[in-house]
Amino acid sequence: MRSLIVAVWKEKLNVSESIGFVDEFARSFGSGSDWPFDVAIAPSFLAFGEIRRRTQPIGVKTCAQNVLWDAQSGSYIGEITARMLNDVGCDFVIVGHSERRLFFSESDAMVAAKARAAIAAKIVPIVCVGDTAEQKEASETESVIRRQLDAFFSEADLDPHQFMIAYEPVWAISTWRNELALPSGKEVQGLHEHVRQAIADIKGVAFADAVTLLYGGSVNPTNAEDYFKQPDVQGALVGGASKVAESFLATLNGARLGLMARSNV
Ligand code: PGA
Repeated sequence: MRSLIVAVWKEKLNVSESIGFVDEFARSFGSGSDWPFDVAIAPSFLAFGEIRRRTQPIGVKTCAQNVLWDAQSGSYIGEITARMLNDVGCDFVIVGHSERRLFFSESDAMVAAKARAAIAAKIVPIVCVGDTAEQKEASETESVIRRQLDAFFSEADLDPHQFMIAYEPVWAISTWRNELALPSGKEVQGLHEHVRQAIADIKGVAFADAVTLLYGGSVNPTNAEDYFKQPDVQGALVGGASKVAESFLATLNGARLGLMARSNV
């Protein structure tokens, strides 16, 4: 699958700010085919339709920030189903983001069910895994990631092209930074090798090699090049640096430089 960079706006931009971003962004972006990766925007649900209408003509995809885990039965007031997302042309959906695990008590099982609901509706789930600072300090990174992956991969008949995995260490997310330094490109490469190995342990090497691995955690214009030089970084979730068009474009440019350096090796 093509590499992917997603602007993850969380709850930061209202509808008029979202439209203002895209109008400015479109002036410099060109078209999706000018870039060596896909670009997507994850707006709020309120802005989703408006952003989709404005980004589709320039080849930018749309990503939902959440989805209901079950659309088959029951009744869930206030929720958005995968079927509804498919109806408005949504390409991707983020599931298992650490903020939803933490603040909305989403369990590994719920995350796996959300991913399955997305796949059934032909939307690519971006399944987030990652360790907290406490888990990292207790050397639990590997076991935490393995537990989160196990829940998702318990599904027998997954195709590695139907989903993506995003490794996002909670301690590197810009809002939750503490004294821990951001990982270098090489460190992220090592972490991604570990994630891929964990997938290989569950599903086999060929399957694991076909999985697209994204990185997230303070990716910005300064470090994007270093991260995208790494062979196991096939994309990124960009939060803080994606709220302003200029900064997101600079991040995309950094990523492009990194990818080019990689292909020149
Ligand atoms: P950040 O957010 O880029 O602001 O660290 C990333 C995320 O939360 O996915």
